[in-house]
Amino acid sequence: MESISFLSILRRFSTLAVVVGVGFLANVSVGTVYAQESTLADQTLTQECIDQAYSGTMHQSSDADLALEIEKDCLVQNGKQWYDRRCSFCHGGAGKGGKGPCLTCGKFAYSANSNMAILTTISVGITNKSLGGAMGAFGTTISGMDILSIVAYMRSEETRRIASGEIKDPYIKEEVMVFPE
Ligand code: HEC
Repeated sequence: MESISFLSILRRFSTLAVVVGVGFLANVSVGTVYAQESTLADQTLTQECIDQAYSGTMHQSSDADLALEIEKDCLVQNGKQWYDRRCSFCHGGAGKGGKGPCLTCGKFAYSANSNMAILTTISVGITNKSLGGAMGAFGTTISGMDILSIVAYMRSEETRRIASGEIKDPYIKEEVMVFPE
């Protein structure tokens, strides 16, 4: 009798150990995920690149918009690397679209079409469920300058696609109609 009750205690104890153990592991993994979400990665865009003189094409949606250097190689390449790592999974290769919308078609339904608004969207995400809610916030994991380089990469691809005729130029304004008298 004694040995049976000892065994049942042992069984109960081992169940408890499993519960505690699982709880501990869950805690550890929750802690790790949390740590990942709140850790800002080191900026990969170098100061040398930021300081590099530039006289090439700038992209701006209006005079008040943030101007981006879309032909500056070190900037665009830095953006491409971040894009390939963190965005292509949903937005497709070269931003052509997938689960998420096309980012190199010159059209931005959620962010109007301004560089500043796009930068903000990437930083804070789209949390409003009625607008989708599937786009996460990257401002806590990617540095501001690196996010800026991602937008420069997106705009440089967009410009290249328009120039090659791959996509229709969304910036062409319809000519003003002139009525003959
Ligand atoms: C988990 C999938 C996913 C990932 C990863 C993701 N996005 Fe998105 N993104 C979406 C979806 C889906 C939308 C459409 C809005 C929604 O449903 O929330 C969106 C919307 C956007 C928009 C708004 C487009 C517009 O029309 O204004 C931008 C800009 C954007 N994403 C950029 C990025 C960038 C840059 C990255 C990488 C740093 C990224 N996204 C990573 C899924 C994703």
